[in-house]
Amino acid sequence: MKPWVTLDRARIPDEEGELILRKRDTEYSIRTETTELMNSRLHGSEEALARLACERLSYQRDVNILIGGLGMGYTLGAALENSGPDAHLTVAEFVPAVISWNREFLGHLAGVPLNDPRVAVWQGDVVQAIKSKKSAWNAILLDVDNGPDGLTREANDQLYGLPGLHAAFAALRPGGILAVWSYAPDDGFTRRLKKCRFRTEVVTAHANSSGKGRKHTIWLAVKPG
Ligand SMILES: C[S@@+](CC[C@H](N)C(=O)[O-])C[C@H]1O[C@@H](n2cnc3c(N)ncnc32)[C@H](O)[C@@H]1O
Repeated sequence: MKPWVTLDRARIPDEEGELILRKRDTEYSIRTETTELMNSRLHGSEEALARLACERLSYQRDVNILIGGLGMGYTLGAALENSGPDAHLTVAEFVPAVISWNREFLGHLAGVPLNDPRVAVWQGDVVQAIKSKKSAWNAILLDVDNGPDGLTREANDQLYGLPGLHAAFAALRPGGILAVWSYAPDDGFTRRLKKCRFRTEVVTAHANSSGKGRKHTIWLAVKPG
């Protein structure tokens, strides 16, 4: 097997430690020194996150979708594939280097989604993107960490707690969907979504796009109206 080659390293804003982009043959990996965040071999559930949410919006025109974060672009690519020509997609990414890695090294993995004219890139924390607008989004798709539990970035707890869910509820249009990816199920998170008046469905999707391997959890939480 070919060895891993480090393509780049980048500081994570406001935090200690670095993100590392590595390549082995055609496979790419984004990781910290201790944990792999994303591997290009496994992206079935990241795509399912977008597909399941967009399918539920398919009868609507001019949809506004917020995606956090960019990673390797699979969720964004699947959202584009499942949206109409008049859709507007904003992708919020906290680490500037992840945006440049998508432009320089990773774009081909998910159909070069940053080149699509329907896409706007927002470099910053998706927590702030959510707080900055009310009744703005038809869908908010979140895959910024391992999920509501087992965070790699403590600050992301703001998204998954009650204040974060109230902010997402306010940021969605009536009938809008909050879709959240997680490595594992979390009954407490389902209860918090219901407490915030979301109509909540919990589904699973295979990590591997061929329908094999570990299953990840996806919440589809609809703001009534
Ligand atoms: C697991 S990856 C996302 C993978 C992505 N769904 C895909 O299909 O490739 C998580 C991404 O979220 C970014 N991120 C983490 N916390 C964030 C936040 N609060 N706001 C915006 N981006 C964030 C990370 O830098 C990383 O690029």
